[in-house]
Amino acid sequence: MPDTARRAPLPPAQSPFAADLAAGLAARPKRLAPKYFYDAAGSALFEEITRQKEYYPTRAEMEILRAHAAEIGALVPEGAALVEFGSGSSAKVRLLLDAMPGLAAYVPVDISGDFLTQAAAALRAEAPGLAVLPVAADFTQPFALPEAVRGRPLVGFFPGSTIGNFDPDAARAFLAHARRTLGAGSRFIVGVDLVKDPRLLDAAYNDAAGVTARFNLNLLARANRELATDFDLAAFTHRAVFNAPARRIEMHLVSRRAQAVHLAGRAFPFAAGESLHTESSYKYTPDGFRDLAAAAGWTPGRLWTDAAGLFSVHVLAA
Ligand code: AVJ
Repeated sequence: MPDTARRAPLPPAQSPFAADLAAGLAARPKRLAPKYFYDAAGSALFEEITRQKEYYPTRAEMEILRAHAAEIGALVPEGAALVEFGSGSSAKVRLLLDAMPGLAAYVPVDISGDFLTQAAAALRAEAPGLAVLPVAADFTQPFALPEAVRGRPLVGFFPGSTIGNFDPDAARAFLAHARRTLGAGSRFIVGVDLVKDPRLLDAAYNDAAGVTARFNLNLLARANRELATDFDLAAFTHRAVFNAPARRIEMHLVSRRAQAVHLAGRAFPFAAGESLHTESSYKYTPDGFRDLAAAAGWTPGRLWTDAAGLFSVHVLAA
């Protein structure tokens, strides 16, 4: 159909999502930041991914946190606040709470405001003595900690290998910014997925039930819901591939045919087979991550892996 035949209405408000999508659709290759996966539907789909048998990172990291809860808990001084970057359902911190008797406050930071509010309410009900102080923010940008944690010793918690979503330069910049936010004397507990057999990586990002495909395609459904774009979801395919030289899984949405998508009255053409790059998920060696942390001003400390050697949890000191 000719580009002039259909025009999407203007988005209700100029949002960062609208601006980033317009810029990403105009870029070559086309791209969009993975933080836009996590509306309420996308956050729920991510939780479903973590229950797929092929998706090992969540289970492997939880194995590590359970096995070393006492040592991790010992990093948290009396009266401390734990700041979690990208807290999602807060499932992982629950494994550590019993081992952190001195913990006074928990600050979950997440971009999905609705999901965050629910997760915080559930945790308050389970841990009545703990001050749960959620911050709805995009943690890839600087954000303010709640007044109530001022003066408390701070421990950062960044599980899930979300660090892998950053390109290496951005990962270093993020770690440096987290060090400034957490301050002198702080510790940072970071979960990092490891380089491994590409067949395991391929399976983890191409689960047989197709949940990762739905998670990827939800980005287009979200744009249609929030920005009144006219993405035809049936005209795009999920593709996840390991880029070995870059040591990253790449997720793409590939156009099945030549088509145009409309955003705010602008037409964005796709060639048949053209991709929208939606996520990179970098994999590190233990030393590779320690070097990155050191380059960002942290002192790398202990690290643990699961029994199968799939995943790692690092302790960094400021
Ligand atoms: C939450 C960023 C760690 O990269 O494995 C899962 C997101 N993407 N399946 C990852 C994700 C596709 C996940 N992180």
